[in-house]
Amino acid sequence: MNQDEGIQLIDYEPTAASFLEEALAGLRKPRKTLPCKYFYDERGSELFARICELEEYYPTRTEIAIMQEYAAEMAEAIGPGCAIVEYGIGSALKTRILLERLIEPVACIPVDISREFLIRSAKDLAAIFPKIEFLPVCANFSEPFDLPPTKRKSARAVAYFPGSTIGNLMPEEAAALLKNMAKTCGSGGGLLVGIDLIKEVEKLEAAYNDGLGVTAEFNKNILRRMNRELDADFDLEKFGHLAFYNSGERRIESHLVSRVDQSVRLGGETFAFREGEAIHTENSHKYDVDDFSAFAAEVGFRAERVWTDPGRLFAVVYLQID
Ligand code: AVI
Repeated sequence: MNQDEGIQLIDYEPTAASFLEEALAGLRKPRKTLPCKYFYDERGSELFARICELEEYYPTRTEIAIMQEYAAEMAEAIGPGCAIVEYGIGSALKTRILLERLIEPVACIPVDISREFLIRSAKDLAAIFPKIEFLPVCANFSEPFDLPPTKRKSARAVAYFPGSTIGNLMPEEAAALLKNMAKTCGSGGGLLVGIDLIKEVEKLEAAYNDGLGVTAEFNKNILRRMNRELDADFDLEKFGHLAFYNSGERRIESHLVSRVDQSVRLGGETFAFREGEAIHTENSHKYDVDDFSAFAAEVGFRAERVWTDPGRLFAVVYLQID
């Protein structure tokens, strides 16, 4: 545990060793991959915040509009005296809208992999909501973790997972995470989750290929981070950003494509790239509300309410843990 100007941080931050191991394992595959959770160092989190402001990237503003319109209904569905466990504190704004409407919430437990961002967001929110206890946890939330004890007893723990971050997981990983959430929050708890809906390909692809190139920078940030933290020697100029909709898998895939034949050093190993060879860096799955509810039902969640925007671009779903 760390004490940082009044905010107590529970720290399970992944070590450089696990970043190196996972990067090596991904680059050794015949089809090279890198885990997208490592996009989010401080610079990556800032780039993502810029993406959320882009004209082409509709999910953030659409989800915020849904929250603004329906947060009171969400609060009613959740009930009084809850502890909110926020998975991936990307946008304090959405949390703020929810916390403003919740009925006498006792605690907020934000969980994120990006330490600096987490502490900053928790401090900002704690200043706005002095009656709520803030207990940030720095962790890779795809692994199970224990909820810190709250001073006041909560009526139920409710996971809040906005931003369609669930879409960045493979279906089997998403199922494992939902199971972990059910275990963490316990029977009688709930989950409020944002999902990006299937829509026309042009709109989906534009969201991941913005005109200003912020998404390309965000994608390349993982290489920059490997150079800095793992002593790799990626030449960022020699990789290009590629993002497209894979309709069979219902997901946007992001890749970094080698512009030339080249080799890169990492952790004492050399990795050869052919011109045009790609590193698959991210999946962003898109959903249909009924399919998502059926999927969640398989791991013990009952869909209670669904809120969406008039254009049905995005949905926020409240599920109860049986
Ligand atoms: C965080 N996550 C839901 C974003 C997404 O849409 O998959 C990350 C992102 N990648 C590129 N643009 C935004």
